[in-house]
Amino acid sequence: MDDIKRIQNTEHRTQKKDIRISVEINSFKYPDGTQAVSGINIEVNRGDFIGLLGSNGSGKTTLLKIMDGLIKDYEGSVCLDGVDIKKLTPKDIYRKVGLIFQNPDDQLFAPTVFEDVAFGPTNMGFSEKEIKSRVADALRNVEMDGYAKKTIHNLSFGQKKRVCIAGLLAMGHEILLLDEPTAGLDPMGEYKMMNLLTKLNKETSVTIVMATHSVDLVPLFLDRLYILSKGHIVRGGAPEEVFTAPDEMANIKLRLPQIAELIYKLKHEDNLPFKKIPLTIGEARREMVRLYA
Ligand SMILES: Nc1ncnc2c1ncn2[C@@H]1O[C@H](COP(=O)(O)OP(=O)(O)O)[C@@H](O)[C@H]1O
Ligand SMILES: [Mg+2]
Repeated sequence: MDDIKRIQNTEHRTQKKDIRISVEINSFKYPDGTQAVSGINIEVNRGDFIGLLGSNGSGKTTLLKIMDGLIKDYEGSVCLDGVDIKKLTPKDIYRKVGLIFQNPDDQLFAPTVFEDVAFGPTNMGFSEKEIKSRVADALRNVEMDGYAKKTIHNLSFGQKKRVCIAGLLAMGHEILLLDEPTAGLDPMGEYKMMNLLTKLNKETSVTIVMATHSVDLVPLFLDRLYILSKGHIVRGGAPEEVFTAPDEMANIKLRLPQIAELIYKLKHEDNLPFKKIPLTIGEARREMVRLYA
């Protein structure tokens, strides 16, 4: 799926550039003096599916909180649809942007799936009929239909994460900020979550910014990413532009996708004539067939 989807994504992006969130942060320090982010310049366009990639402590969660208006005492400016976020009320922001915490247990609080997903639309004053239909649509979108009556407590970690997403979708959020949506999931769960997010992004035009440290998943799914290290953006662009040499990645406590690492070594240490460094198994396979079949 990888290549074709990525080409389509790129076209989709270049066709209509409509900036939803722009972030320019000179500096942000936590009250204890920790310099968490500095020199940040990020643009989130309508329909984007972008990643903030970085090791632990690189500033991903802080940046998501800044984009959601939860942290405001920074030097710099963040605009949502062209308006300075500091001038917006939490309600203004909340109508458009939703943040999902890394741990679903920090987000879910109602006893059942239905009650949790219905909480937002109920507070927004919708009729009972509208609430039911929003909850049903949201649960269907996260492939959790049939779970409305389930007790939250009995769900798996991955199901809880999906219920969190449904809660925001039911309120009609157009922009989702997701903090490590695949952390804590098993390998199949990671793929399912990324497929689900891709589907939401492509089919229901939800704009997604996700924080992650999962280098192997990124090139398969994301259009664009920003690499964060010690609170700075060290690189940004399409996965093939930002994943370069293994030692550069090691400097920022990340690595290349495993398949890229292998081909890089074959090319540079064993002198095999690879033209480019593939980031996915599909690309690597095609390159090998081209060379050796
Ligand atoms: N509430 C806080 N008070 C002080 N320092 C914090 C707080 N939250 C995070 N930090 C620090 O800010 C830096 C960035 O953290 P964070 O944004 O959580 O990174 P990431 O999400 O990439 O792991 C780290 O050095 C972290 O220790
Ligand atoms: Mg974090």
